Amino acid sequence: MPTRSASILTGKAFNGWRLFWLITAAMCVAVALAMPAADLASPLGVSAMIQFSVRVAVPWLFLAFAASSLAALFPGAFSRWLLRNRRFLGLCFAAGMAWQLLFILWLVTGHWNYYLNEAYSYFDLAVQVPGYLVLIAMTATSFRFGRSRLSARQWKALHKGGIYFLWAVVWSTYWYELFYYDDIQPIDYAYYWAGFAAWGVRVAAWGGKRTWRTVHVPGRAADSIAK
Ligand code: HEM
Repeated sequence: MPTRSASILTGKAFNGWRLFWLITAAMCVAVALAMPAADLASPLGVSAMIQFSVRVAVPWLFLAFAASSLAALFPGAFSRWLLRNRRFLGLCFAAGMAWQLLFILWLVTGHWNYYLNEAYSYFDLAVQVPGYLVLIAMTATSFRFGRSRLSARQWKALHKGGIYFLWAVVWSTYWYELFYYDDIQPIDYAYYWAGFAAWGVRVAAWGGKRTWRTVHVPGRAADSIAK
């Protein structure tokens, strides 16, 4: 008989589009509650909302990034649930980042001088703009109409390369904050280490695959050692 937690994980409410809408609604409520507390007439308030909206989005990226590796390393009801819903978790990240984009546009259009003097950096922009382009491309090709425009190979390259790139943009931002900023908050540490752990399980899963091939696939042992 399935345990109670296993049957919750297979139930309709916490899978697929329902899961997406549940998480997205929760993110929207969180953003709506945070907005009155931030002074949106001031650039600092808008900047705080940029930060807040990234913070509600990032956990879903890390979960989507680690899903296949967790399923390989720790097969079970939870990791199967993660893997099944990886696409929807990725879309939740995109929905949270749509809020960030809104606040970025708010900052740039409403407080141009502040943006230029305090937030703009050519180097950051060279990573942030491709970040959004990759995110938009991944989102569009998560649906049939976008997916059908790519070959299976192109789709895989976009989604595999894309999730590494997005993870790297987010994780490097927290790494940079911890090493170069003074006003570090506990959540910066939490996201830094969560991102590191997500990458760690990926590395452990590669290791697992290599060992499995070396032990189980005839002719692969010599191959793996040669590489
Ligand atoms: C044109 C594009 C972008 C601009 C102008 C931009 C701007 C900003 C600004 C001004 C902040 C600082 C908020 C503050 O500390 O007060 C910020 C934070 C951040 N952004 Fe972006 N961003 C862009 C795109 C992206 C993308 C594509 C990603 C990830 C895929 C990303 C991830 C982050 C992260 C992780 C933070 C740190 C949030 C925190 O401190 O918890 N940004 N961004």
